[in-house]
Amino acid sequence: MTATRDLKSIDRVLIEAQRALDSVFGSPAPTRPNPAGDESDIVLDEADRQHAAGLMRINHVGEICAQALYSGQAAVARDAGTRADLLAAAAEETDHLAWCADRLRELDSRPSLLNPLWYAGSYAIGTLAGLRGDGWNLGFVVETERQVEAHLQEHLQTLPQADSRSRKILETMKADEARHADRAEAQGARVLPQPIPALMAAASKLMKTIAYRI
Ligand SMILES: [Fe+2]
Ligand SMILES: [Fe+2]
Repeated sequence: MTATRDLKSIDRVLIEAQRALDSVFGSPAPTRPNPAGDESDIVLDEADRQHAAGLMRINHVGEICAQALYSGQAAVARDAGTRADLLAAAAEETDHLAWCADRLRELDSRPSLLNPLWYAGSYAIGTLAGLRGDGWNLGFVVETERQVEAHLQEHLQTLPQADSRSRKILETMKADEARHADRAEAQGARVLPQPIPALMAAASKLMKTIAYRI
């Protein structure tokens, strides 16, 4: 009995490790077509290209963090339904991750070199949030997704005007994130008290400042 339980724990650790390696070092396959579709890839001048790449690197890091947060939260979710929902949302985030990676390649750039760190930190935060119970877990999803939605709106305004391929991707992501927040809210998310939302905003601001460059 104990041996079976040990094997199950080892299985889970291996699955989590595989998911981390796939997110950070692999190229996860999207399940939906890239929203940029056949939108023309206008050649940007060097300053605009670098700016667009910096913004898309931030968004790629955001999606690495989303994978890690959702995986950490799902690993400790108490209710099987909550766990299934977290993993379903993570699957949609995989599309976002793949689309951002595609766009970074098109912009002749690369993902953040610190992705292993972003993943590890976010996984730890997701686990901590999840351990407080499913109401908190869902509350954390709502707060994260609402902050990401606002952030994507900001990027849609600051992206180079001509970069319609990045724009299409961010528009679809923004609609998905809003849906993730609505769903978690409907499932009984708690409203997180201050200073948690403020701390989350501060952490993501720090991440954005660093990921724009590295
Ligand atoms: Fe996302
Ligand atoms: Fe999301």
